[in-house]
Amino acid sequence: MTGRIIGTGSYVPEQVVTNEDLAKIVDTTDEWIVTRTGIHERRIAVHEGTSEMAAKAARRALEDAGMEAGELDIILLATSSPDNCFPNGACEVQAAIGAKNAVAFDISAACSGFEFALSTVQAFLQAGIYKTALIIGVDCLSKLTDWNDRSTCVLFGDGAGAAVLRAEETGVIHSVMGSDGTKGPVLSCSARTGGNFLNGKRPELGFIYMDGQEVFKFAVKKVPECIQQVLKESGTDIDEVKYFVLHQANYRICESVAKRLKQPLDKVPMNIGSYGNTSGATVPILLDELNRQGKLERGDKIVMAGFGGGLTWGAALVEW
Ligand code: UT7
Repeated sequence: MTGRIIGTGSYVPEQVVTNEDLAKIVDTTDEWIVTRTGIHERRIAVHEGTSEMAAKAARRALEDAGMEAGELDIILLATSSPDNCFPNGACEVQAAIGAKNAVAFDISAACSGFEFALSTVQAFLQAGIYKTALIIGVDCLSKLTDWNDRSTCVLFGDGAGAAVLRAEETGVIHSVMGSDGTKGPVLSCSARTGGNFLNGKRPELGFIYMDGQEVFKFAVKKVPECIQQVLKESGTDIDEVKYFVLHQANYRICESVAKRLKQPLDKVPMNIGSYGNTSGATVPILLDELNRQGKLERGDKIVMAGFGGGLTWGAALVEW
């Protein structure tokens, strides 16, 4: 037994923010953003939070799967921008969609969160502990962004993507996860730190900090490595893979990964131009687009791969 993806869904907020819009608030240009990242515009949540976006994507995934929320055994929500410290976002989604028979909890692995959620539920499904699962990658980084910092505020967008899995004979073939906590400071966002009644300080909120070049170097090395690992350990030839569904952080990273894997760029779909980097949501949003465009057929093999804060990375080989 393994977990097979039987439905996908996604949601992005309505509000479009273009590069020109950002050029009015920080010292940047459309030309810089497009040539360095591939991003033309992003969606920003105005009236909704992380859990609401997640619930909208979840409902669409359940509808695509033809499944009722009450049939779900487990909900894993991957985010690094939850609405609350607690209750967790997965429980809020559980309540919103009426998944009364599921256990629900969050996973925090930044932009690798969806791959971590997939690997985790796959273990439960493979072990026979649960039969059905909903996994969600969602982030609302606009609320953690310093809108005066041009080096980060042009990169991110808000959104959610979800997948429903069921225990079946085929599906997730193999997955790998990794982390290196010693490199944590290169991509971080502290939250509510430093205050309590003894030191008399109020907790302070932090903003996203990123050493872009360090993260870039890490990504172009680690992503091909973990993809090769997942293929090698499953005895799969790279040419059997139809698509590499990669975390959308920068089109230049996707290009570099394709080059290092010696794979044509048309096997690396991208939508970063429309949504920017939605963190844990990029892979499931892209997966949902491919699914809804009819580009995935039963038996196709795809690789999903993410990397991000932690530092963390993960890849999964899936038979559709
Ligand atoms: O999902 C989480 C993982 N995150 C990532 O994967 C991001 C990985 N990193 C990147 O994608 C790239 O490093 C960035 C897109 C963030 C930056 O691109 P870069 O080619 O590494 O640029 P840089 O940081 O070396 O900056 C080059 C120049 C600098 O000016 P000087 O020092 O050369 O005068 C920056 O100050 O560009 C400047 N700059 C900007 N200029 C206009 C930085 N941000 C901007 C901006 N507009 N928004």
